[in-house]
Amino acid sequence: MSLKNFIDSLDGLLGEAKQSLDSVTSNDQLEALRVRFVGAKSGAIKAVQKLMGSIESEHRPVAGKRFNEVRDAIQSALDAATVRLGGGGSQLSDGPQIDPTLPGIRPTLGQLHPITQTIEHLKDIMGRLGFNVTEGPEIEDTWHNFVALNIPEDHPARDPLDNFYLATAKKQVHNPADRDAMLLRSQTSTVQIRVMETQPLPLRIISLGRVYRPDAPDATHFPMFNQMEGLWVDNHVTMAQLKSVLRLFATSYLGSDVHVRFRPSFFPFTEPSVEVDYWWNGNWVEFGGAGMVDPNVFQALGIDSEEWSGFAFGLGVERLCMRRFGIVDIRDLYRSDVRFLRQFAS
Ligand code: PHE
Repeated sequence: MSLKNFIDSLDGLLGEAKQSLDSVTSNDQLEALRVRFVGAKSGAIKAVQKLMGSIESEHRPVAGKRFNEVRDAIQSALDAATVRLGGGGSQLSDGPQIDPTLPGIRPTLGQLHPITQTIEHLKDIMGRLGFNVTEGPEIEDTWHNFVALNIPEDHPARDPLDNFYLATAKKQVHNPADRDAMLLRSQTSTVQIRVMETQPLPLRIISLGRVYRPDAPDATHFPMFNQMEGLWVDNHVTMAQLKSVLRLFATSYLGSDVHVRFRPSFFPFTEPSVEVDYWWNGNWVEFGGAGMVDPNVFQALGIDSEEWSGFAFGLGVERLCMRRFGIVDIRDLYRSDVRFLRQFAS
């Protein structure tokens, strides 16, 4: 084939391609033109390329140069038509279009409940004071909740009106004198008994968890709340150590400017007993009870109270949490309102 004929057919092809691509109106038509001109198997460009072999070799450089120009020009015309039709090409055809510049939808991340955060924090502080974390069941028998804690049968703390006794498969419900009666534990002091039953002395533990009392909910009461129980039993544990531990704890958790006060009190399972208060907003706020383990408790567990002594304390976790986060109504903690809870990001 002569050079002239070759260039004529290239120019004819380019003119044809431009004309049809300029007037294309749908993506389907565009796709048909793409196949017709630049299709890999039988496109027009391919066909012209094959003719190059029949051109005299001296003319080939000119022919090749022109071929490249025409091929690129047709490709540009295809690209321009693609953009003009919405940039879709055949794959996206007429389906929904996406705008990659729009901001995405952020997944909402959860966070720990303020009480959980508080519990973790308290474990951390007490851990540094050498206390190991233990756990006990929330469903208890009267032995662990009362009897072993030196709370006699006629004690008002065992009143069915002040406890959540359970209707169990075992038997009766409302006779608190029954040793087999089961209840939702009313205090974490149950764990003192469970640990001394099973762990060798000396021991130094804390236990954090829920307790239940049928109190009408108000700003400072809720029928379920959390306590942190502490127990240290060794050969010569003293009241002075109890006071130092609680003071150290209070300053670590509430800040070094906190004032702590101990008031004489009574608990059946400690002797002597104190109530522990801290100063907040112009008031003394009680945050728990404490004392030296009563010899009767050791005796119930077969522990020699001449050889061993110990202290125990039980602190209200919600009160500590509320004080730290500035929460004034305990019920807010248990409404499961994420708008409220989200304020206390961990
Ligand atoms: N269990 C007591 C309460 O719930 C608190 C306490 C614990 C007191 C340990 C003394 C020792 O009120």
